[in-house]
Amino acid sequence: MNTKGVILQGSSRSDGNTNKVVTFIKDKTGFDTIDLKSKHISYFDYDFKNQEDDFIPLMNEIVNNYDIIIFATPVYWYAMSGIMKIFFDRITDCLKVEKEIGRKLRGKTMGMISCGSDSELKEGFEMPFIESANYLGMHYLGSIHTWIENEMISELVQKKLNSFIEENIKN
Ligand SMILES: Cc1cc2nc3c(=O)[nH]c(=O)nc-3n(C[C@H](O)[C@H](O)[C@H](O)COP(=O)(O)O)c2cc1C
Repeated sequence: MNTKGVILQGSSRSDGNTNKVVTFIKDKTGFDTIDLKSKHISYFDYDFKNQEDDFIPLMNEIVNNYDIIIFATPVYWYAMSGIMKIFFDRITDCLKVEKEIGRKLRGKTMGMISCGSDSELKEGFEMPFIESANYLGMHYLGSIHTWIENEMISELVQKKLNSFIEENIKN
């Protein structure tokens, strides 16, 4: 594959556990990263009165520069983070108002990285990513679940990450 990718980091702390995993993947792939926490993106609004916030410029930057979009989210209460969910809700803007951006998403590739404290990821966590990719006409490259032990990425998780990168991102 080897096209340019971006990792969207959706943690409530910029330099926390998810960032450790994002940095690991960035170093191995050369992908760019964007910290969604640093952006001002408000909740979805049926009246679209929030079009002046950071969402539309950010989406334009993403669709015009990248073919692979990886969502990196911590596991908060068995689900994606609130920051990530707000971002997904706002993709609705790209189907209703900024339709050109929505069209540009078609044919791009989506992947997902979760980062929890538990090695187990509950069934159903991945579904919104798979279904959203389907709905948006994007390819889904798969996902990897990671967890942090003693503030570090364990050897086991590093191995998993390396295989994921080799099999799903570089090929
Ligand atoms: C609000 C909140 C809810 C959490 N819920 C879960 C959970 O349901 N399952 C889990 O494995 N870890 C859970 N955790 C732990 C985090 O997923 C874990 O510490 C993760 O590595 C944090 O990443 P971060 O530093 O990027 O926020 C939760 C943490 C927080 C702050």
